[in-house]
Amino acid sequence: MARLDPHSYNDDTQPETETLTWKARVDFRTRRLHAEATLTLREASAGPLDLDTRELEIRSVVDAHGKPLPFLVSPPEPILGSRLRVELSPGTRQLTIRYRTSPQASALQWLTSAQTAGGQYPYLFSQCQAIHARSVVPLQDTPRIRIRYKAELTVPKELKAVMAAGFTGREEQGVEAVERYEMPQPIPPYLLAFAVGRLAAKELGPRSRVWAEPEVLEEAAEEFEDVDAMLRAAEDLFGGYDWERFDLLTMPPSFPYGGMENPRLTFLTPTLLAGDKSLVSVVAHELAHSWTGNLVTNASAEHFWLNEGFTVFAERRIIEALYGEDVAKLHAALGRRALEDAVHHFKEHPQLTALRTHLAGVAPDEAFSQVPYEKGYLLLRAVENAVGRPAFDAFLKRYLEAHRFQALTTEQFTAFVDKHLPGALAKVDAEAYLNKPGIPGSAPVPRSERLERMTKYKTKVPTVEEVKDWTPAEWQLYIQSLPQGTSRDVFRQLDERFHLTKSHNAEVLVSWLAASLRAGWGPALGRTESFLGEVGRMKYLKPLYGALASTTEGKALARSLFNRYAERYHPIARAAVESILNRA
Ligand code: BES
Ligand code: ZN
Repeated sequence: MARLDPHSYNDDTQPETETLTWKARVDFRTRRLHAEATLTLREASAGPLDLDTRELEIRSVVDAHGKPLPFLVSPPEPILGSRLRVELSPGTRQLTIRYRTSPQASALQWLTSAQTAGGQYPYLFSQCQAIHARSVVPLQDTPRIRIRYKAELTVPKELKAVMAAGFTGREEQGVEAVERYEMPQPIPPYLLAFAVGRLAAKELGPRSRVWAEPEVLEEAAEEFEDVDAMLRAAEDLFGGYDWERFDLLTMPPSFPYGGMENPRLTFLTPTLLAGDKSLVSVVAHELAHSWTGNLVTNASAEHFWLNEGFTVFAERRIIEALYGEDVAKLHAALGRRALEDAVHHFKEHPQLTALRTHLAGVAPDEAFSQVPYEKGYLLLRAVENAVGRPAFDAFLKRYLEAHRFQALTTEQFTAFVDKHLPGALAKVDAEAYLNKPGIPGSAPVPRSERLERMTKYKTKVPTVEEVKDWTPAEWQLYIQSLPQGTSRDVFRQLDERFHLTKSHNAEVLVSWLAASLRAGWGPALGRTESFLGEVGRMKYLKPLYGALASTTEGKALARSLFNRYAERYHPIARAAVESILNRA
């Protein structure tokens, strides 16, 4: 027997699931899903079948004829959850599991009506990547095993249920509504996704609409109105789009990520609604995952860079195609900063700064950082520079074509490159990226006039005239380039001149607040306190709680803010902040 994924109980000698039929009733009162999952195996089998679960209460397991199958739920392991072992009687191809989820299910966030824009109705959403699908459905929760599924969600009639799948119908029955969805393309379980709330939609193009609470719908539709142009640019670069629709769901502010590439329905943080489309590179990123990640998938969290490094590369190619090379370079420069911070942050765990990680005993959420994103991007840029863009583009198309709807490891990736671009990996010293910590000295560095200009300021406060054409990305670079120990007076002048504490751009605001907190610029404190109560995106919670907790007085404040706000955050975000505060 072999357990190929350190984060799953799946044993590769056992049969694989082919399809899932899932029925769930959403109970906002008890914060539980009352559900039934029918797994159909690739072939009729016998013997043990190990499934992943987390905090599920299993009621019964029966075969296709309703005959009970013996099962055992093992005691929970902190990272993997509980193994559910079902004994299949000979000839079993289908099993149905009746169960209910826990109110603390790690994939789910249940919002009270007060936590929504409308304030009238509750809201529920899922976030399954990397290994939280098992807290919603008992299954083989490893990206190596793809499933097709049909789902039926029963929700209060006033609400709409959306899924990252094709809609097949809604029926109202008394006070409830049943919403049906179908996913005909096989997906890794981490891409199972749904949301339930007071939702409305607006068309953006022939293949896209945006969903949101009615209160933010117009704003979202304007911010994302260019999505069809993005889709066409991506198809030019990476080949035809395989998922039929590319819809967007603007999430409530507690959504823990910037975006999540749920197939056909990307989930997006409302902090992207800057009013000037300046943060739409996140949409480009999630769209790019339709090729790199959703079509060609990492075999486990140990190869996460295959998803994210390729996607950052693809994202910047889309940005370059739509907005020009200079803009893509600014993003690459910000990425480089983020990579340096991440490498510094992991100085006690340098092995987590190699692209190929070894994660037995390490939770994917703990290993998460900008390293797979930005170091992965640099490796692919290095290879592109080594072989030239035309050859690399041809390689990329071939790589995607050869691995459609499959999962692969870093080792399979290197074998494929060696075959199609012989010598390229050695030339860029890929070994230093893949298996060694830190940033290789030979890694490509973005250069441009606009970039040069930004690094010249140091502690000099620019004039209103000088910043006239600065984009938010340039502001971020400027703020992040302020040297450690820059005086409070510089922060005061900047705030007086440019009102940065009042910035409506979340990226600029968070860079500014984090730098201000470290410099002791008082007015930033109040804004940080309110922001931490409004937004649950981990990318912002981590630096802000981190900056607060970096001083003795700040530590107590960070604790008390967290105690006040914790229940507003998603379980994953709550755990991330807790670990920052415990380390501080
Ligand atoms: N797939 C990720 C989000 C994710 C990663 C969820 C790991 C759970 C575990 C998504 O595509 C992503 O990378 N989002 C980024 C935005 C992007 C522009 C770098 C984010 O949320 O910040
Ligand atoms: Zn991503």
